[in-house]
Amino acid sequence: MIKIGIIGQGFIGKMHLATLRQSKLATVTAVADREPSNLEGKVVAGNIDVSGDISLEGVARYEEGDALLRDPNVEAVLIALPTYMHKEYILKAAEKGKHILCEKPLTLTSAEGREVLEALNGYDRVFMSAQCIRFWPVYVEARNYIRSGVYGKLLSAQFTRQSCKPTWSWQNWLLDGAKSGGALLDLHIHDVDYVNYLFGMPDQVEAIGCIVPREDVSQVNAYYRYANGPVVAVDGGWMHPADFPFRMGFRMEFEQATLEFDSRIDANLHVYPAGGGHLTPDLLPGDGYSREHEYFLRSIMEGNKAEEASPESALASVALVERERAAIRTVATA
Ligand SMILES: NC(=O)c1ccc[n+]([C@@H]2O[C@H](COP(=O)([O-])OP(=O)(O)OC[C@H]3O[C@@H](n4cnc5c(N)ncnc54)[C@H](O)[C@@H]3O)[C@@H](O)[C@H]2O)c1
Repeated sequence: MIKIGIIGQGFIGKMHLATLRQSKLATVTAVADREPSNLEGKVVAGNIDVSGDISLEGVARYEEGDALLRDPNVEAVLIALPTYMHKEYILKAAEKGKHILCEKPLTLTSAEGREVLEALNGYDRVFMSAQCIRFWPVYVEARNYIRSGVYGKLLSAQFTRQSCKPTWSWQNWLLDGAKSGGALLDLHIHDVDYVNYLFGMPDQVEAIGCIVPREDVSQVNAYYRYANGPVVAVDGGWMHPADFPFRMGFRMEFEQATLEFDSRIDANLHVYPAGGGHLTPDLLPGDGYSREHEYFLRSIMEGNKAEEASPESALASVALVERERAAIRTVATA
């Protein structure tokens, strides 16, 4: 069992705690949060549901991430802090020789990401970016069709991710574009990262978006072209009222099938082969969080690099978001 500590017990930190408490590969030995009320195992609001309150019996609790990093009973650390703190805490965790799983996005800017990668060059512990969509069963299934070519080439793909406005974060950091990077870097990056992970950097990027003062880009429609790959459209945003239900999904047109996933309808992948019919293949068990944890923990146990979500590839996704932002600003100011 790997002894893991979680820094940040806000919305996603609680999700990680609830999920890791079910893991057969890890034991949560410590948690840290600046808000004492977040150290009671109570669920914190967000745009997706986290199951009921979680017992913290036997878990060391700290009111500061640095104190957790000094705890010798922590071998691996999960950083679930606001994005503008990622760089600082990745570097601090590395100084203490911990295995590191850091929430997405890797860092607030690609310049910060490059600094981190330079500082951790040759680091002999596992360092992974928590780009959970790469591990989400329905997205893994679609990836398998793309890679196997079972339905021919992928010609076109559309991705969507829409949320109500995130008014729940600590000190409202999410709605401060200078701290979160706005919806572009916080929400939309999930799909940007998935596309970048599958196909790499697009040859051409176009984007239009809605910029809200102080909040940065809050809605985006981006279009990617690959010389030898699909045309891709990705939309994302968080300008909706509080009761707007979270939605993620995609549609993919292959030479010999169309695939569809819409989280508002169900958790299935719907496959419509060209020859007729409608299939809903069995998906891997668990969700993106439990599967990314398992991958991280197995990488530690087996002494492997976490290649499926390397910091290098996560950095490329931050850079791709920055290309979109530049395109949006060019249009917005033209
Ligand atoms: N993978 C996903 O699906 C997903 C979903 C939501 C958020 N995230 C990412 O997770 C990160 C955190 O987001 P969130 O929504 O949980 O934010 P949040 O505001 O709900 O939680 C952040 C927590 O960090 C705590 N904190 C601040 N400074 C601290 C310090 N020095 N030591 C200890 N605790 C400290 C705050 O008290 C707060 O509880 C962000 O990078 C975000 O992009 C990922």
